[in-house]
Parts: sequence; C-alpha cells; structure tokens
Amino acid sequence: MDFPIFFVDHIGNRMLIAIIAILHVFVNHPLAVGAYPLVTVMEWLGWKNGSEEVDRLAYKVTMVLFIVTTTIGALTGVGIWFTTALIAPFGIGSLLRIFFWAWFIEWIVFISEVVLILVYFLTWKRWKEGIMKKVHIGVGVTLSVFSWATMAIIVGILGFMMHSGSWPLDQSLISAFFNPLYAPQLLFRTTYALMTAGLCVWFLLFFFTQKGSELRRKAVRFVSIWTLVWVPPFIVGAVWYWNVVPEAMRSNLDVAMLTQAFQNWHESFGYIMIAALAAIIITAIVGMSKPRLINGVLLLIPFVLGIWLLGHFERVREFVRKPYVVADYMYSNGIRLIDYPIYKRDGVLAHATFVAHNRVTEANMVEAGKDVFRIACSRCHTTTGINSMVDKFNNLYGPGGWDPTVMSTFIETMHNSRTYMPPFPGNQRELEALIAYLKDLEENREFLPGAQSRGIPQAAVGNNESSM
Ligand code: HEC
Repeated sequence: MDFPIFFVDHIGNRMLIAIIAILHVFVNHPLAVGAYPLVTVMEWLGWKNGSEEVDRLAYKVTMVLFIVTTTIGALTGVGIWFTTALIAPFGIGSLLRIFFWAWFIEWIVFISEVVLILVYFLTWKRWKEGIMKKVHIGVGVTLSVFSWATMAIIVGILGFMMHSGSWPLDQSLISAFFNPLYAPQLLFRTTYALMTAGLCVWFLLFFFTQKGSELRRKAVRFVSIWTLVWVPPFIVGAVWYWNVVPEAMRSNLDVAMLTQAFQNWHESFGYIMIAALAAIIITAIVGMSKPRLINGVLLLIPFVLGIWLLGHFERVREFVRKPYVVADYMYSNGIRLIDYPIYKRDGVLAHATFVAHNRVTEANMVEAGKDVFRIACSRCHTTTGINSMVDKFNNLYGPGGWDPTVMSTFIETMHNSRTYMPPFPGNQRELEALIAYLKDLEENREFLPGAQSRGIPQAAVGNNESSM
C-alpha cells in the first residue's frame, strides 16, 4: 500500500481534517489577519520617520508572509474543502445552503485578498517615491481590511456550528450568521491574530536583524508594544466567548482538553495555558522596557507557546461541539436529528447508497456490520489506527473480553454517558451486525481502509430491500 494512503487511513477522518484545518489557522490568523496590519504600520512608521532601514525590514517580513500565505495558507484553505467534502458532505452541504450568500461574498473577498497580497509585495520596491508610497501604504491598509473580512465572514459560519441561535425558528441567513457566538468569537479571533502576529514577527526579527543593533532594539520595542496592546481585549474576548458556549458543550471540556486517557489532567492543563499567556506578557513587557535583554531564545519561546495555544484552542473548539457537526441540527456522523426516527425504524443501510447490503441477514452479518461501522462510527474512529475500535474496546473490557451483550448495551446508551458521541443511528438488526463485525475485528484485527483502496460497495440490483 502507498505510504500516503496508509497514513491517511490510519490517522482517521477526524485527524485528517484537524491537521489541515489547524495548519490553515496557524497561517491564516497570525500571518494573514494579524501580520499584514503589523507590517503596514511598520512601513508607515518607516516612511514617517524617513527610515530606509525600517522600510527594508518591513519588506523582508512581508516577503515571508507573501510566500507562506500564498502557498501553505492557500493550499490548506482549499484542503479544508476537499477533506470536509469527502468526510462530511452532508455537513458542508447544509452549510453551503444556509450560508450561500455569505460564501459567495467570501469568495470575492478572498480572491481580492490574494490579488492585494500580490500587489502589495510585488510593487513594494517600485512604488517608493512621493504619492506612490502613500498608495502603497493604502494597499497595505486595504489588504489588512480584506484579510480580516474573510475571517469575519467565516466566524459567522463557525459560530453557527456550535450554536444556531434563533435560526431554527425563522431559518433566515441573518439569524444564522449573527448567532450568539458571533461577536465574542470575532473579538477573540481578531485580537488573538493581532497578538500572535507580534510573536511571529518577533521570531522573524531574530533572522532579519543583527544582534545588538539599533534596528533590532527599535523593532523589538515596537513589536512588544504591538503584542501587549492586544492582550487585554484578547482576555475580554476569551472570557466572553467561554461564557456564551452552550452549557452542554462545556461539559465535554474534560475530554476536549486532552484525550480521555488524560482527562484528569485538565485542571493542571488550564494552568499551563495561563502560564503560556503569562510568559508572552512578561516577554512583551521586557521587550518594551528593556529591548536589549531580549535575546534569540526569548524571541523563540513565546512564538512556540503562542502557536501551541492557538492549535489547542482549535482542538478544544472542535471537540466541545460534539456530538454535533451543526449544533442541534446534524450529528457528526452526518445524520440529521430529525431523520433519526426513520433510521431507527428502517435501519441506516436501507437508505444508504454505497453499501454492500441494504438489509442485514444471517449470511451477511459481518459485511453489513462493516458498513454500519462506516456510517455510524468511522467519522471519528478507525478500526486499528488512531482512536481505534480495538483500543477503545480493549480499554473497556480487556483483550479477549468483548462480550456481545455488554457491548450492545454500551452502544445503545453510549451517548448518555459519553456525551461527545451521537446515539447509535441504526435498528436492532444493524446493532447486532455491528457487533458481529466488531467481534470479527477483535479476532482478526483486519484494518478497514478507505474507499481509494477498498473500492465503493454497492448493493446488487434487486437486493434493495429497503421497504420494510
Ligand atoms: C462524533 C464522533 C464519534 C462517533 C460518531 C463515535 N464515537 Fe466513539 N468516541 C469518540 C471519542 C472522541 C471518544 C473518546 C476518545 C478518547 O479521548 O479516548 C470515543 C470513545 C469511544 C469508546 C470508548 C469509551 C470509553 O469510555 O472508553 C467506545 C467503545 C466507542 N467510542 C465506540 C463507538 C462506536 C461503536 C461508535 C459507532 C456506533 C462510535 N463510538 C461513534 C467519538 C465518536
């Protein structure tokens, strides 16, 4: 098997989305949203004070932003569409319909942003004199506004996924977009982006300025002030945001912070996060008052901490949303809440297109169970890779101790005790088939690959016994 495919299958659907999305946020927040305004201010300061040196530094930083945002940033942005369309087509389909005009505007804004990035970087050295320099700074300002605007649009959609507000009542785009999480999340992300932009530019100063030079002193001081300015609104945003997250989701936090195996660590983990923020604040205060004390290592540590905090925030946000992909509307397995009674009655296989059998029989138990697993569990679990069924059931019952009756009770009620999992969607026969498949897995540990290696099963014509 090809290594990339092997890798993708073993990390599982959940992790694949997580890696691409978090990488995207790493680039988008500090670099696109946060750092373009920072370099624009830096360019303006250089121009105002007639400092060629500061202007050149701002240009070098912009070169890094330009390269990273138009490559990793743009590719992971598109990557999110590929992964979500593959893994959660119903989820992304619903969001496309509900937010059609928001996406429409977002694409125009995004394309404009990319054009502005190109113009801003590529004209820097040519638009140097007189009015053209002012125009160039104006391009920087416009670019900063557009980068922020793409985020401001996406935040409406992200917030909706956690809290649909009054949308279920009037189904209007406005109430979906301006959901209760919108304003706090936008404040939180905006200030976070601006603050961590400071950390990234600190990091770049280490490469672009000479140790002990006046330029480094000035630049460290400027970036430290920049970073510090955004800390108070960031804290306000974080607390406000936390307080509007629905109560039921907050209770997922123990497992969201780390995995289940570490859930008792979560309190100490909270302290580690506060300590990381404190380290950033202290470095910024020192950088502001005694910029010469900031050496290379001190420039790197806050950068690493800031990036880690951001990545962790995204993990927690994605996790607490469980068991929903869109709150109170669709579970993470792609099944709408209102469709559950139909599936409970007819079974999920009866209404599925890409399954080997539409109905469970004595002869097809294991095969049908495999499809039930794929539909009901594989968005979040693999068979033997990450968050695997083998590990999970071994943890619960020990190797060799998987008792079908106990497993059946567990699966039927798992959503009550593990609130991050949706209820089992199928009927009684399908539950039996799933267990037959899991027992087979316990014995043979046969890895279930994705459709690219396994092919797409389809029930034989005439075998569609969906009317029951
Ligand atoms: C929305 C995602 C999601 C879906 C769908 C899902 N699970 Fe889970 N499940 C999880 C997560 C997350 C954990 C906890 C992982 C951890 O941190 O250890 C978990 C844990 C488990 C555990 C271990 C529980 C424990 O207390 O040790 C079992 C068993 C399990 N799942 C079975 C299933 C089965 C069977 C299905 C399909 C019918 C399923 N899950 C569907 C996300 C999901």
